[in-house]
Amino acid sequence: MTTLEPFPERIYVTRPVFPTIEEVTEKLRDIWAAKWLTNNGPQHTMLEHELTDALKVPYLSLFNNGTIALIVACQSLRLSGEVITTPFTFAATPHVLSWNNIAPIFCDIDAATMNIDADKIESMITPHTTAILAVHVFGTPCDVVKIQEVADRYGLRVIYDAAHAFGVEIGGRGIGTFGDISMFSFHATKLYHTVEGGALTHGDEHLKQRIDLLKNFGIKNEDEVVMPGINGKLNEISAAVGRIMLGYVEDERQKRIRLHAVYNEELAEVDGLTLMPPCAPDVKLNYQYYVIRIDEKIFGRSRDFVYDELRKYNVFARKYFHPLCSEFTCYRQLNSASPANLPVANVVGQQVLSMPMYGGLSEDDVRKICAILKSFKG
Ligand SMILES: Cc1ncc(COP(=O)(O)O)c(C=O)c1O
Repeated sequence: MTTLEPFPERIYVTRPVFPTIEEVTEKLRDIWAAKWLTNNGPQHTMLEHELTDALKVPYLSLFNNGTIALIVACQSLRLSGEVITTPFTFAATPHVLSWNNIAPIFCDIDAATMNIDADKIESMITPHTTAILAVHVFGTPCDVVKIQEVADRYGLRVIYDAAHAFGVEIGGRGIGTFGDISMFSFHATKLYHTVEGGALTHGDEHLKQRIDLLKNFGIKNEDEVVMPGINGKLNEISAAVGRIMLGYVEDERQKRIRLHAVYNEELAEVDGLTLMPPCAPDVKLNYQYYVIRIDEKIFGRSRDFVYDELRKYNVFARKYFHPLCSEFTCYRQLNSASPANLPVANVVGQQVLSMPMYGGLSEDDVRKICAILKSFKG
């Protein structure tokens, strides 16, 4: 019998998956024996190969985080001018454009997937547009076919921010094989992590050479520095943790699949709640997040009310992604940031709530969270 007492301890939106201390110690011994801490060491080399297989991609370059990886992706394709992106994403997405002196141009999102609306991209293209930077938000794939069609018609590059999409596949194809380049984040809060880390994936050997130079200061050899690169290298300790975590990711995914089912079962009939879109038959999802939308007019309570009240029960949901990137002080003066250009994103941003989702939660925890949520209905 569930009671509506507050949880005894705080329930956060997620909790990192920890490998055992013994596994880490064993790998640390290998690193100490090799006397190699960073700069393309043996753990790094092995992890690159293992992730190339796991993500079903032709080429992969590891990075010290996803943001630097995305900055390098823009550099490697020599993007400039304007890049069309989504306002419904983490701050890093438009910021990497700014760090490349590129103007982010915000395009509205699709109400069902919350991803960039592929049908609206064309209307945002100008003579200055060089690329589309789309995000597989919460691991739900973008409309990769339509996006590629638009890009091909206008000669644009396509970069995917796949920070949330580890292991996602469309028709058995790794999500990182779509577009010119995809970026994965291996931050501690992600389904799969290297503590901090990230990767770029793509299908071109020459691009890999260029990306690997860019992530190592542009240093070609002891005598030649051939481009203004940056320090994007993943260290050996993070790479070793990443190798261990590959053994955890499917188990964590299975636990989250079960928790998703409990949320769906408990919340499906609640008027005013929109749940995550169902999985398309040819798509393999990773179930990393569980996100709901609350329509105040029907549910009788606003998202902000629910967020505040949940905290009184020690449930710390998060308003991902609110505020929209188009509402940040550094972007709101852009023409494309006006609410009139982004009607769907502005509604979704007011309704969305990321619920606790991690393998360490029990099914009873989720049932209780849902009971608390339902008790707020006005
Ligand atoms: C959509 C999105 N893009 C980019 C990033 C940045 O990745 P990182 O934290 O690895 O730099 C994140 C990070 O959490 C993200 O959620």
